[in-house]
Amino acid sequence: MRIGFIGLGIMGRRMARNLLDDGHELVVYNRTPEKADALTAAGAVWADTPSAAVRDVDVLVTMLATHVVIQTLALEEDGFLAAMPKGSRWLDCSTVHPGFVRWMAGLAGAHGVHLIDAPVAGTKGPAAAGELVFLAGGRKADIDFCRPLFDCMGRKVVHLGGVGQGAAMKMVFNLMLGSAMAAYAEALVLGEALGLSRSTLAEVLLAAPVSAPFLKIKQALIDQEDFEAHFPLRWMRKDLQLASQSAYEQGVATPGLNAVKEIYALAEKAGLGKQDFAAVWKFLAE
Ligand SMILES: NC(=O)c1ccc[n+]([C@@H]2O[C@H](COP(=O)([O-])OP(=O)(O)OC[C@H]3O[C@@H](n4cnc5c(N)ncnc54)[C@H](OP(=O)(O)O)[C@@H]3O)[C@@H](O)[C@H]2O)c1
Repeated sequence: MRIGFIGLGIMGRRMARNLLDDGHELVVYNRTPEKADALTAAGAVWADTPSAAVRDVDVLVTMLATHVVIQTLALEEDGFLAAMPKGSRWLDCSTVHPGFVRWMAGLAGAHGVHLIDAPVAGTKGPAAAGELVFLAGGRKADIDFCRPLFDCMGRKVVHLGGVGQGAAMKMVFNLMLGSAMAAYAEALVLGEALGLSRSTLAEVLLAAPVSAPFLKIKQALIDQEDFEAHFPLRWMRKDLQLASQSAYEQGVATPGLNAVKEIYALAEKAGLGKQDFAAVWKFLAE
């Protein structure tokens, strides 16, 4: 397949590499061109603009930071949407909220482009290993068309319903993820204040059903006090903000979510935004 790929950050360049290694024809664009160097050395073609990345493609994959970035690259000068071939598919793997997906799907539809929202569960390691789980919304025919791409970038695709339902699942997924991390960080801080050692706290809490399994991985970052980003804290804050906005749009009260998102907001303000979201512990501890 001929594939355009826009957004070569922590996740995107690893996902793109798996597509290339699987033999797909790949055209790539990224705001910071150097991040494409390893891909172009391995055979990907560089595009100077978002619109140049989508000429004659069967599928465009986007893995971008925020919905504002997607909107800009899709719709502004040299944007990709108007340049996409009629009947092509746009697989957006970025984490955005369902309301945005549905709005974009309408605009894409007007250009004859089929949008699939397929945000991912899994971080840097699973992206490199082709072990992501895709939470997909869209038409079954479009998801079936993209199945070879899902199969080489991930280990599973869950089709959750019409367009926007992948994003809906991702909202509640990250509500759980961000809340569990913040609760664990608070537990460590309180436990240490009460005279328990950090290693004892980790040993007891992580062996008990009160802890989410991913916290074992995050404890290793806390032990080493090394928070190089797998999943940047500023994107966790963004996702919790989008979950809160989605709750407002649905008329649902989420008081716990709103408190947690403000913890991440303060941690970002304290300069931890580009570190892994496990650095919320560092913020609370200090
Ligand atoms: N990291 C994870 O573990 C993880 C897991 C699941 C989902 N996600 C989601 O996946 C998406 C990408 O995450 P990531 O971790 O790969 O983030 P990242 O490393 O920060 O990459 C973000 C991408 O967006 C581009 N971008 C940011 N601002 C831009 C702007 N103003 N104009 C043009 N391009 C811009 C970046 O370009 P530059 O390279 O030029 O900065 C880069 O390609 C996010 O929506 C995130 O929430 C991440």
